[in-house]
Amino acid sequence: MPSTVILGTGSYAPERILSNAELSKMVDTSDEWIRTRSGIRERRIAAPGEATSDMAVQAAKRALLDAGLKADEIDLVVVATVTPDMLMPSCACLVQHKLGVPTSAACFDLNAACSGFVYALDTVCAMVASGRYKKALLIGVEKLSAVVDWQDRTTCVLFGDGAGAAVVGLSSEEGKGLIGTRLGSFGEGAELLHIPRGGTSAPSTPESIAARDHCIRMKGKEVFKLAVRAMDEAARDILEQYHFRADQISLVIPHQANLRIIEALSEYLELPMERFFVNVERYGNTSAASIPLALDEARRTGRIKSGDLTMLVAFGAGLTYGSALVRW
Ligand code: COA
Repeated sequence: MPSTVILGTGSYAPERILSNAELSKMVDTSDEWIRTRSGIRERRIAAPGEATSDMAVQAAKRALLDAGLKADEIDLVVVATVTPDMLMPSCACLVQHKLGVPTSAACFDLNAACSGFVYALDTVCAMVASGRYKKALLIGVEKLSAVVDWQDRTTCVLFGDGAGAAVVGLSSEEGKGLIGTRLGSFGEGAELLHIPRGGTSAPSTPESIAARDHCIRMKGKEVFKLAVRAMDEAARDILEQYHFRADQISLVIPHQANLRIIEALSEYLELPMERFFVNVERYGNTSAASIPLALDEARRTGRIKSGDLTMLVAFGAGLTYGSALVRW
């Protein structure tokens, strides 16, 4: 039976670097606090006028080049994001137009916050495996700088902008590609990490905008504990389900939210940190973009070789979580 494989990857990060030193001039914080609590040294910020779809297109072009494909060969575009250019239409439709993907392609967005890429990988692989789609473009992208409260030191130091993309298709090579996924969600924890206003339950008012309630609000400590628990469970469950041991994983590509969360996962799974790909120090938490950005960097720096077994593992607002096993 043919398997669904990642044919190419690409990523994009805006040029503008916002360092911890600069942030400490904006809010009451310090480079030392941010580094020791999160591992983050700097993050990227989109240029004025640079939209989510613009970043997505840059990453997508690189993924297409890597896969040796042209935009007109794509028949499915899925964009995982919580920061689309606008609520309607989807970012995927804007990307389709900017890239020149044919009008016969299916295009839609998917919102699973920081777990978005893993959710979208599962969705896209199932659609391609059905035989109804041949070549899919899957993008995780965020412009979180647009929804961060730049006066809230407990959140603004953590997030950044960026994009990562993958092209998915079928392969007849035995044993390669997506082995399986494990997805889940704790909806009861929705308010631990959310954007309280601006949706249909509580539309923005001049007062709510003045209070910046259209920005990210997070209970950091609770989210931290749940993130470690959920990522550990998602990793263990998928290993058990597909009969692998943790030490058979050559590289884990975790969601890059906080170095301490990744270190805790390394300890719980009894897998050394050398088996985890980490770039959170350069980008901060880029939500749905974090795993594809890390995956692309891991591939480009030779951290993933043919035959390797990798695990993607994520956690995010929802509260969603997910893991995926991929053989290269
Ligand atoms: N600079 C300086 N001090 C800060 C600060 C900042 N940027 N942000 C918070 N503080 C202060 C707090 O006000 C608190 O002060 P107090 O003790 O006087 O009340 C103190 O630092 C400790 O805050 P606390 O929230 O207990 O810190 P922490 O060790 O839990 O680390 C996070 C905070 C946000 C880094 C951590 O909880 C975290 O990473 N949570 C998960 C976030 C995440 O990954 N979210 C996305 C999931 S997809």
